[in-house]
Amino acid sequence: MQAPLPRSMRPGIVVVTRDTLRALAPADAQLVRKAIDSIGELSAKAQGLSKPITSHAQMLACDNRLYLSVGKDSLRGLLRVGGRQLFVHRKQSSEYVQTSPLCVLDFFVCTALQRGGEGRALFDFMCQREGTCAAALGYDRPSHKFLAFLRKHFDLASFIPQLNHFVVLGCKERGHKSQGPLVHATGKGWVKGHKGQYYDALHRIIFNFAKEVGSPSAVDRTDYGTASGSARGFVQHHSQQLSRAAVCGDAQNINNAARIMRVAHSNKQKAPGLK
Ligand SMILES: CC(C)(COP(=O)(O)OP(=O)(O)OC[C@H]1O[C@@H](n2cnc3c(N)ncnc32)[C@H](O)[C@@H]1OP(=O)(O)O)[C@@H](O)C(=O)NCCC(=O)NCCS
Repeated sequence: MQAPLPRSMRPGIVVVTRDTLRALAPADAQLVRKAIDSIGELSAKAQGLSKPITSHAQMLACDNRLYLSVGKDSLRGLLRVGGRQLFVHRKQSSEYVQTSPLCVLDFFVCTALQRGGEGRALFDFMCQREGTCAAALGYDRPSHKFLAFLRKHFDLASFIPQLNHFVVLGCKERGHKSQGPLVHATGKGWVKGHKGQYYDALHRIIFNFAKEVGSPSAVDRTDYGTASGSARGFVQHHSQQLSRAAVCGDAQNINNAARIMRVAHSNKQKAPGLK
């Protein structure tokens, strides 16, 4: 059972900071403290943590922003973000680099409401207000549910600790070494082939399916298309479709990020005092 909310807290999404908490009237402050502590405990329990990572006291001690999804008489979810200095190991380099992304530090939607779009609504609201997007955030040990969430909504599918990465599909060798490195302007030159992060998936799933499809008793219901350039082979067709989905996903992410930046920019111009 969650703590009741003060009347001043209307249903919707509210942003709580240490300043807004300090500005509350004493009676409201008491109720908000209990409500935050109570949903913080539920979040910790849902993530199997021994103690809450979001609490009223901790919010007063830092400059994090806590996005609360407010229901009729209790909190429905929370999303806490804040800046972190991280030393991250970029994949193709042996060196650690320092970066200071905005990080998702806690994210929780009440169990009965999960998978109903509440998390997405909170996440989108936060991104819009912070002027960021899923691909630009840091994630502190995301749970399997959160990873599934990021994969589903934002096509973010591959991570190294505390740094999010777009998936790389890999490519076949192109041209010859003697041509020198590829010049993008002319399309001439050599590109070293490399296995992408879907390589294993392609081999294990598509090639195995292709074997099954090739057996005399199998029926292949793939729609290969009617264009003269349409791939006819099972492996080629499905590899192309996967690549296309990944490229479209990236384009959509870029488009989303541009839209969020545009909205944030126009909001800043409308209300220059707003954080
Ligand atoms: C992660 C979380 C905040 C997402 O909120 P939500 O309201 O469920 O998210 P949405 O309804 O907007 O999105 C649903 C998607 O999230 C993922 N997801 C949510 N619950 C899931 C579950 N129980 N198992 C696997 N994936 C899940 C799935 O991708 C799901 O899409 P699907 O239903 O088509 O499979 C919520 O699941 C939650 O509170 N989980 C427990 C706490 C937690 O793990 N927090 C992350 C901290 S790192």
